[in-house]
Amino acid sequence: MTTTTTGTTAVTGAVGAAHTRVEGLAKVTGAARYAGEIPFAELAHGWLVLSTIARGRIRAVESAPVLAMPGVLAVLHHGNAPRVDGNYTGPLGPPDPVVQVFQHDRVPYAGWPVALVIAETPEQAREAAETLVVRYDQEPHEVAFAAGHPGMYTPDSSPQSPAETEKGDLAAELAASAVVVDAQYTTPEEHHHPLEPHAAMARWDGGRLELVDSNQGSRYVAEELANLFSLDPASVRVRSEHVGGGFGSKALRPHQVLAAMAATVLQRPVRVVLTRRQMFSVVGYRSPTAQRIRLGADADGRLRAFDHQAECVTSTVHEFIERSAEMGRVMYDADAHHTVHRVVRLDVPTPSWMRAPGEAPGSFALESALDELAEKCGIDPIALRARNEPAAGPVSGLPFSGRKLLDCFQEGARRFGWADRDPRPGRRREGRWLLGTGTAAAQFPARALPSTASVTAEADGGFTVRIAAADIGTGARTALTLIAADALEVAPERIRMRIADSDFGPAMIAGGSMGTRSWAWAVTAAAGELRQQLALGGGIPPQGITVRSDTTAAIAALAQKERHAFGAQFAEVAVDVTSGEVRVRRMLGIFAAGRIVNPLTARSQFIGGMTWGLSMALHEEAVRDRASGAPVGADLAGYHFAAHADVPPIEADWVDDPDEDDPVGIKGIGEIGIVGGAAAIANAVWHATGVRHRDLPIRPDRVL
Ligand code: MOS
Repeated sequence: MTTTTTGTTAVTGAVGAAHTRVEGLAKVTGAARYAGEIPFAELAHGWLVLSTIARGRIRAVESAPVLAMPGVLAVLHHGNAPRVDGNYTGPLGPPDPVVQVFQHDRVPYAGWPVALVIAETPEQAREAAETLVVRYDQEPHEVAFAAGHPGMYTPDSSPQSPAETEKGDLAAELAASAVVVDAQYTTPEEHHHPLEPHAAMARWDGGRLELVDSNQGSRYVAEELANLFSLDPASVRVRSEHVGGGFGSKALRPHQVLAAMAATVLQRPVRVVLTRRQMFSVVGYRSPTAQRIRLGADADGRLRAFDHQAECVTSTVHEFIERSAEMGRVMYDADAHHTVHRVVRLDVPTPSWMRAPGEAPGSFALESALDELAEKCGIDPIALRARNEPAAGPVSGLPFSGRKLLDCFQEGARRFGWADRDPRPGRRREGRWLLGTGTAAAQFPARALPSTASVTAEADGGFTVRIAAADIGTGARTALTLIAADALEVAPERIRMRIADSDFGPAMIAGGSMGTRSWAWAVTAAAGELRQQLALGGGIPPQGITVRSDTTAAIAALAQKERHAFGAQFAEVAVDVTSGEVRVRRMLGIFAAGRIVNPLTARSQFIGGMTWGLSMALHEEAVRDRASGAPVGADLAGYHFAAHADVPPIEADWVDDPDEDDPVGIKGIGEIGIVGGAAAIANAVWHATGVRHRDLPIRPDRVL
């Protein structure tokens, strides 16, 4: 028996009990097919050609020799591509112009799509694409991001997020502070690389444009394509049944548009698969950041002044802001409080959402600065955070809907053995290893967006749930199965969960840590109403009884509160004083992230995020070559990230934290695992060595 948060009691108790993935057998046996491997009759293959210059104009695409090569069907480029309309505001705002492929001859950065070669086989397409000569008129470019870069500007505020927040007299409070931390932090350009590369097959079928794709939201991709090609939304169908990772990268990108264009031109199915190297330019990445944090406190650690200034980069064609200063708007109050985002436009691809956008780099700076303040005040870092727990949102003034940050620290400290820690740095040594421990807070917003679902009571006693959800490897399909089972009061085995088909209606994407929560809401609503109908009695007709839900009104009525998941990260490191190598020996994360639907997959998701935090702290760094403007070593050999041998035992657990306003109690767990991880490790490195590392990654050459 599991007590839910809504006052009702779940009879089946599926939610909260560990459950293996409902599609697990299909995945491990290869029966689950991904977008790049589903066979289609008459399938042609497109190979993308990216610009080799970082700024200028295309003078010529020399197609003729390539068109004579074996199997080549067409070469699409700005001179012959169908026109698309990018002048619209989609579900996530105006599109990045990179999806308006081949509409002009301008090249705004290295890796801009300039041509698509289509052939009978992928090998023929690749051979021809590598042979294709594109001539350019090159212009000077600039790609090197640095703090305070000339041209840095404060962007316009978005509806969800002001560019700048300000209260109180910062200079006066800093001057009146007994202790001041003023530090500059940097994080490098980082990339997300799902194991399954981006792939899309498009074809026209009975007057409809149909795509089989790998994405984080089939309905969203369908709506974007309908906008771009000026089609009736009902005439576009996108499916994405299995997805091998997303992390923010699997939105609408050029390859889906190109597959659709090519299928239209050739009137046959066309698939476009991105290579690992192309992904470094085409699917978004995390902007480098430069962050200045100023904290002023009384001697007892109470904050008087708080200032977080966060700078990032965007492209010359589209504005994307890495909102690193968001974290401080939620975490800590002060008499004077200031946060601001600034951005500079360089000749680089547009950055995009990458797991915990904003909070991941923001928490590195903020939670490192808190540790520096604790050191200066001579206060335990956890006690410092306890002293600065705000009663309400520091910027919004709204009450918190559950803020169990200190519960996380308390439970984490107990399990980690924090009480035994000597706060002085550089005291523990094992041979050539210096040992240290560190901690940091985690936070991520807990939002929800409207979705629709349908639930059908079938004549055979089963229930079919249809929702355009996406399972990007998170276990969402399984979580929704458990949620439907509880809502219908039947065993999970009686649920048939159908997801990732845009024909199922509008639904939230797998993003912003709000996919499962938003979908669960819709599934719960439809299931609840179906149960009421079934309770009236009467048989089930052969076509079943179907109920649809739409959560738009329910979500709009959500009380105005600061709604967040919280967490406490702990790390122990060993630093080799002869080589500068940092080894993480153990990590512990305790989270307050709403009701946990499936402990098995939830734990994996937290651990995955924490592993990424480790990777961010010690390994990841994309370097752009100033001469070519292109990333150096753009593959999984050149882009260094944590391998198995780098990852110690990682423990993740949670405290009870149901969201009282959510029908299932969910908050969302997709992104918080990475937040604070890098700071906990950096703080542990300081504790081991007595040296602060304010630039990521903490490479051996920086440690020595
Ligand atoms: Mo996530 S970065 O919101 O897909």
